[in-house]
Order: sequence, then C-alpha cells, then structure tokens
Amino acid sequence: MRENKIIAEGKSKKIYFIDDDTNFMVFKDHLRSITYKREENIKGTGIERLKACIYILNLLEQYGIKTELKDRRLKTFDNEIGMVVKPVRAIPIEFIARFYAAGSILRLYPSIVKANQKFDPPLFKYDLKQDISIGGVDDPTLNESYIVGLNLLTQNELDECKRLLGQVAYILNKELDQAGIRLIDFKIELGFDKSGNIIVIDEISQDCLRANDMLTDTSVTKDAFRQMKSDDEVLESYKRFNKMLIRKKNN
Ligand code: TYD
Repeated sequence: MRENKIIAEGKSKKIYFIDDDTNFMVFKDHLRSITYKREENIKGTGIERLKACIYILNLLEQYGIKTELKDRRLKTFDNEIGMVVKPVRAIPIEFIARFYAAGSILRLYPSIVKANQKFDPPLFKYDLKQDISIGGVDDPTLNESYIVGLNLLTQNELDECKRLLGQVAYILNKELDQAGIRLIDFKIELGFDKSGNIIVIDEISQDCLRANDMLTDTSVTKDAFRQMKSDDEVLESYKRFNKMLIRKKNN
C-alpha cells in the first residue's frame, strides 16, 4: 500500500491528497458541541454523514450549483470510505441561514427573538472560522462591512456568496419539506476552485443542519446529540434523516 499524505485532519474529518486535481475526504465517527460541552465518538455516524453529504451535494449539482464533489458516488480508498473532491481554497467563513429561531440567536437576542419564531425570508449569518484558542471565543460573528473591510472577500465575491447561500437555502428547504423534515437552520462553507469560481465545499450533513421530523417534531440531526440523547438514539436520528430524505427521492 502506498503512503498517502493527509493534508488536513480535524476531529471529525480528514483529507488525503490523491493528485494535483483530487483529494479524498473521510468523515470520522466524532461529534462535539462546545456550547453543550459534549464530545464523543458515536460509531456509525461518520458513514451516515457521508451518505447525506454526497446526496445533498449531488442534489445541488442537479440545480446547477457547483460543488467540491468530483465523483457522484461514495468511494473506498486505503480501506476508508469517503468522497472524492476537488482541491479548493476555502473561505474562512461559516455561512449560516435560519428559517426558525434556535441555538445562538435565542441565547444572544432573547429581548427580540422568540423560540421557534419563523424567518421568511431566512436570516443570514456569517461567522469567522477562528480557533477558540486564539481569541478565547468560538467563531465570532462578522458583518458585511467586516468581511469586505478586513479583506476576507471583495464586495462582488460576497454578493456571489450570498446568492449561493440563498440558493442552497431554497433548495434544502424545499427538498427537506418534501421529505417531511422541517429545516430550522444550517451552515455551509464556500471556497474557490482552481478556475476561481466560488463553489460549495466541505460537509453538508446532519452535523451542519438543525432539522426535525415534522410528524413528531423531534430532531433528525445534531440537536439529538445536543439534547443529550443516548449514543444509540443519536445514531438512529442520523439514520432517520437519510431514510426520510433519500427514500423520498427514490419514490
Ligand atoms: P448557531 O445557532 O449559530 O450555533 P449553535 O451551534 O451555537 O446553535 O448555528 C446555526 C446552524 O449552523 C446550526 O445548525 C449549527 C450550524 N453550525 C455548524 O454546523 N458549525 C458551526 O461552526 C456553526 C457556527 C454553526
């Protein structure tokens, strides 16, 4: 077996270099919530995230949105299961859209925001990806003036990112709604491909979405973990998300 270089490794993901035009992304069975102070390996969650991610990135491609995905299918490489992706230059911003109030917006704006309040059109938020050890704060929120003024993006690039966030929000909300899932909020990451196009990169899965089964109003994504459900229940929620979303398409 030949040695393959790992070019990035975090707690929940690692990226292998394959060749100048190809990387391989693997999802680990790891979950962490800084806010809820829970960190664990839950076996089986990595593959469920991978299935969801490949499904959703393919879906975006069908709507004409460029993504990091290089091969439509899940692949095995050096005994690991993952997805084949293009090399990209990541933009260090978490692009978030909210359809209902949950999470940090409730904690930070209790005087003006009520639980489950609906946002139509969805609210957008931009958080800087910055290690908590640097400033003692986890991913501080930016505004548009900061993004352009601090040279993270030009105004035109920011406009393109906002357009992409809006399109992804529309598509995800529609597809999940048809699957009987209520989308509460989500985050995506964006980056530049080799030609300089802004594309959707990294993971979109149960870990980056808040979403509930409409019938039971229970989480089918990471909130199950934040709500301190058992490891088995968290894995069941992740599986249920895929069953509802992916089965719907096959009908
Ligand atoms: P947000 O409410 O801002 O954060 P919190 O995790 O404190 O509730 O998150 C909005 C959505 O974006 C939620 O579905 C989680 C997701 N998200 C991530 O996946 N990673 C991140 O780094 C951030 C900031 C959010």
